[in-house]
Amino acid sequence: MLEKNIAQLLNEQVNKELYSAYLYLDFANYYADEGLDGFAHWYEIQAQEERDHAMMIRRYLLDCGVRVTFDAIEKPDKSFQTAMDPLQAGLEHEEYVSSRIETIYAAAFGAKDFKTMQFLDWFVKEQGEEEKNADDMVKKMQLFGGDSKGLYMLNQELAARVYTPSATGPAM
Ligand code: FEO
Repeated sequence: MLEKNIAQLLNEQVNKELYSAYLYLDFANYYADEGLDGFAHWYEIQAQEERDHAMMIRRYLLDCGVRVTFDAIEKPDKSFQTAMDPLQAGLEHEEYVSSRIETIYAAAFGAKDFKTMQFLDWFVKEQGEEEKNADDMVKKMQLFGGDSKGLYMLNQELAARVYTPSATGPAM
C-alpha cells in the first residue's frame, strides 16, 4: 500500500499530465491557425505522449489499490505573439514537470518506497529527454526560424514526427 501523501502526489501528477496534453493541444491550435501544420502535428503527438504518461501513473495507482480521482483540467492560459513563444513556454513547462517528478521521487525516497522509486525511474529519464527536445526546438528556431525559408524547413522536419506509444514505460 502506498503512503497517503505519495498516492496523493501521484494522483495530482495524473491531472498535471492531462493538463500537459491539453496545453500542447492548445499550442497545436495556435500553429494550425498560423498555417504551420508541421509544428501543429508535432504538438499533437506530444499531447498523445502526455496522455500516455497520465495513463501510466493512473494504472500504477490502480494496481497499488488506490482510488484515483480526477480534478478539473485548467484552461491553458497562453497567448502567443510569435512562433517562438509556444516553444519557450513548452521548455518552461517541461522544467516544471521535471521538478514535480523529482518532488514525488524525493517523497518516495524519504518513505523508503522503493517500488514507487523504481516506477518513477522511467519518468526521470523521460523528463530528461523531454527537456532536451524542448530545448532543441528553441535552439533550432533561434538558428533557422528567422526567415520564411528556414521556417518552412523546420515545419517540414516537425511534420515527420511519428507517434510511438510509450510501451517501454511502466505499468501500461
Ligand atoms: Fe509528461 Fe512532458 O511530461
